[in-house]
Amino acid sequence: MRIVNKTNLFSKWFIIAFVGLLLLQCSSKGQQENSQKDNNRKAFQADIEIALTATTKKIQLLQGEETKVFTYESELIKGKEENLDKLKDTYLGPIIHVKQGQKIRVRFKNQLPRESIIHWHGLHIPPEMDGHPVYAINKGEEYIYEFQVNNRPGTYWFHPHPHQITGPQVYYGLAGMFIVEGDEPELPSGEFDMPMILQDRTFDANNQLVYLEGNRMERMKGFLGNRILVNGLIDRQMEVKKTAYRFRVLNGSNSRIYKLAWSDGSNVIAVGTGGGLLEQPVKKDYIMLAPGERVDIWKNFSDYNENKELKLKSLDFDDGSSMGMGGRMGNRMQPSQGVDNGTEMDLYTFTVTSESGPQKKLPSRLSDIKKFDANNAVNADNPKPFNFSFERMNWVINGETFDMTEVADWEKVKLNTTEIWEFINGGNGGGMGMMNNMMQMPHPVHIHGLQFQIIDRDISGVSSSSWETVKDGFLDKGWQDTFLLLPGMKVQVIMRFEDFTGKYIYHCHNLEHEDMGMMRNYEVVE
Ligand code: C2O
Ligand code: CU
Repeated sequence: MRIVNKTNLFSKWFIIAFVGLLLLQCSSKGQQENSQKDNNRKAFQADIEIALTATTKKIQLLQGEETKVFTYESELIKGKEENLDKLKDTYLGPIIHVKQGQKIRVRFKNQLPRESIIHWHGLHIPPEMDGHPVYAINKGEEYIYEFQVNNRPGTYWFHPHPHQITGPQVYYGLAGMFIVEGDEPELPSGEFDMPMILQDRTFDANNQLVYLEGNRMERMKGFLGNRILVNGLIDRQMEVKKTAYRFRVLNGSNSRIYKLAWSDGSNVIAVGTGGGLLEQPVKKDYIMLAPGERVDIWKNFSDYNENKELKLKSLDFDDGSSMGMGGRMGNRMQPSQGVDNGTEMDLYTFTVTSESGPQKKLPSRLSDIKKFDANNAVNADNPKPFNFSFERMNWVINGETFDMTEVADWEKVKLNTTEIWEFINGGNGGGMGMMNNMMQMPHPVHIHGLQFQIIDRDISGVSSSSWETVKDGFLDKGWQDTFLLLPGMKVQVIMRFEDFTGKYIYHCHNLEHEDMGMMRNYEVVE
């Protein structure tokens, strides 16, 4: 008995000592990790450092009462003045200008009522820097981003990405542009290189922004406003000189799609996409621009007469939506105050002055783009299917909605491999097939962490009445991170998983669909 007792005593002491040691180790490990972080921070020599604080404020947008908005207050801590362009008289922005290869540190502080995190849309950076919703921080907290800008020169952007509340946070004012500057002397620069962020909003009688007020049917369709703001301004017009401009057009709307065209019917000339300059300029009658997408447009005003008024418009189109159950139910899903997708709208008015500017000619060659060889994809004969559809009263991807950490087998990819993914908008007939077909909407598909190339757009399942109205507007060239997937469409993209392992997300960039869970993780594994 005594011996047993002694053993007990001994083992008790042993356990206490062991636990003590463990605790000691843990705390010193914690300290090590912290000092490791500090060391990393010191080791990271930022060329540019910016503080961005998301906060609420009131601003004079319309006549009369001030409007309550969300905004990023910005401050340049290190760098040159031109690195940070605070847009004036608006909630929107800022515009961050960097050069390829530069290192940037962003100190993001959250002063919003709810959690938030910033996603750098289009950038190729490590998962911890990309703004995955799992990293969202609460009010009063700070998240420090440190990354090198690896992307090609081009027009990227940033916006909040907290799970289920990205839509409202963008809507109430949080979004900015991230321009990677190139060495492009042949293209317009300075005042002739202009951001143009398109958003639709609805104001109430007291000048306050109106968002979907918990109406599930409206949310299913996505927010559509009744007026356009450009760069966060109500006033949508400017005087232009007789010279060439580069308009960096970003569709920063929650769910509105634009069919961009010039009011005089002249060609829309694209020089860049979401992933930088094209190889050659592309001339089109109009360009379809879905939420999240960018297009750099070249416009030369020098041949217009003085006082000529030219409008950038969104033309009429049929987005192929079918909201099921015919007329009455369909009508009930129309936003109560919003202008429907596909309705013609004036976006911006340019008045040509007599002044001239630098005389630039549209270059015939813009950049080099190395095309992926589909044969090098690990699944060259077997593209991975991703079905964007409606099931169980929800928008889903392959039948699933978002889970913070979940990654399915089909969402694991190997580092340093190339894959082909095929995105399919409905119509697979599986499960509640009839419902699938009855509820169809366009989905702008966005993949985080990389740029891809579009290798096939199969339109055989698209209704011809819809296709006729959009068919000339697709720009499937160059690098992309977002593309429009209309009902019945199948789009194949090819991409390579390089440099970083970990979890990124991909989702529908209709922000209401995203918030409802039309989003998934993919994981790059070694
Ligand atoms: Cu611009 Cu995940 O989004
Ligand atoms: Cu969608």
